[in-house]
Amino acid sequence: MFQIATVPEYGLNSHLLIIMLTEKFTKKRKKDLSIFPACVQKDLEWFFSEAKDFKGKFKETLLFYPRFLESVERILLVGMGDSFDLDFYKFREIGYLIETRQKEVKSRRNHIFLGNFPVCNQKIIEQLTEGILYKQYTFDEYKSESNVPSIEPRYIFVCSKHDYSPKYRQVVIKTRKLMSGIYLARNLANQPANVATPAYIKELVVKNFKNKNNCSVEIYDRENLQKMGMNAILAVAQGSHNEPYLLVIKYQPPQARKTVALVGKGVTFDTGGISIKPPANMDEMKFDMSGAAAVIGAMDFVVNHKPHFNVIGVIPLVENMPGGGAIRPGDVIKSFSGKTIEILNTDAEGRLILADALTYAVREFKPSVVLDFATLTGACMVALGDKRAGVFSNSPDLRQALYEAGEESGDLVWPLPTDDIYRKDLESDIADIKNIGSRWGGAITAAKFLEFFVEDATWAHIDMAGTANDVKHIDFLNKGATGFGVRLVAAMFRKINKIA
Ligand code: BES
Ligand code: ZN
Ligand code: ZN
Repeated sequence: MFQIATVPEYGLNSHLLIIMLTEKFTKKRKKDLSIFPACVQKDLEWFFSEAKDFKGKFKETLLFYPRFLESVERILLVGMGDSFDLDFYKFREIGYLIETRQKEVKSRRNHIFLGNFPVCNQKIIEQLTEGILYKQYTFDEYKSESNVPSIEPRYIFVCSKHDYSPKYRQVVIKTRKLMSGIYLARNLANQPANVATPAYIKELVVKNFKNKNNCSVEIYDRENLQKMGMNAILAVAQGSHNEPYLLVIKYQPPQARKTVALVGKGVTFDTGGISIKPPANMDEMKFDMSGAAAVIGAMDFVVNHKPHFNVIGVIPLVENMPGGGAIRPGDVIKSFSGKTIEILNTDAEGRLILADALTYAVREFKPSVVLDFATLTGACMVALGDKRAGVFSNSPDLRQALYEAGEESGDLVWPLPTDDIYRKDLESDIADIKNIGSRWGGAITAAKFLEFFVEDATWAHIDMAGTANDVKHIDFLNKGATGFGVRLVAAMFRKINKIA
């Protein structure tokens, strides 16, 4: 729970008072303590005269019991490093750190004092809230003993009187809405594949979106897919006992003129099929529906945030198994677009289901922009690591907008090329296209394959194979699903007029 307050006139009643200090301030010999609430000045004065080991380095913390202040149980000093390199992103890491310390001391009423920053602006409150909520996230449904505290800690952001703004409350509300989409995506992606089958995800989508304002859900099952000729989706699904689905979540407010389509790869488990994967880390392939989870999380944000344009989520759901009915390398199928595909590697299945879903999205909804999210290639992970997803687009403006949305939201992306020469790698001897290229540039040929199915739409593909789960190079993420993509979409919506 989060609240906003100004410095109280008579003392501060707190279990944990958190004060963030820059290195520069900590170093100063003569410190102006009048910027702190009157009631804590004595304690800070005592602290700075006695304790010289706190340097204010980024993420340094020091917990102490106040000497003078009776109504505050503990004071936590948090180092912010050099003030000049304080970008908002760091406040998210600090929020995460604050919640980590809070969990250790189990304090219920926590005050975060913001008045010693030039402005306790919206960004700082937003990022601290996000960081705290990132740390609060746990996935322990299958643990017999939960370690989620029974009482949710309360955080009170304490602003100085001249800086307080009623807007700050809205910032917290908006951040919570966004984080609820991220939690939804993470909870879904973290589910094991024996639970999160295509049917499970279908039910979850119906439950979450069916009765929401301006929302409707369409479900296409195997029979429908057969009638429509969605043979690329069906081809991947045919080796599994789990039924495939194509889900369409429509958010259509009255008077909307533009449409954004979001397409997400939903492979609930990717064994590779007949081109079976080696056993090491195959369990991670339960995360191969993280693109679908990102779209579901983004649609959750959409129904809460209510943009003025249409947003359509298109989610193909299959399991890629090597059962008796599975597709074989060398099989040729006719996709929904009418184009034929020679399947040379059944492990390149994501692009197959996306081909049909993308064609459907562009033909049915004629979107101004279509974005697809997919854990598509190991090659993208090799190229970019786990901090940034690859972005490919047929529109330089859209690619740039996504890059900027990444920087603003923290869901970072990096542009990769789509030169037409790579299309040659996908020429098939007997069909219109084959589903793999050569060994080199595997993420690029995958993107070129998708591009073949988007017709004349303005499209971008986000290859999130590296960023979807178990990210080691971002400090506010723990193991498992990251919810990557939800914040990127939210930031992208703010730029919608630039790109659509
Ligand atoms: N789901 C995988 C991609 C992947 C790999 C995601 C590792 C996350 C971690 C995808 O379906 C796949 O298997 N791609 C193949 C393509 C190849 C057969 C052309 C790959 O990347 O090896
Ligand atoms: Zn695969
Ligand atoms: Zn896959």
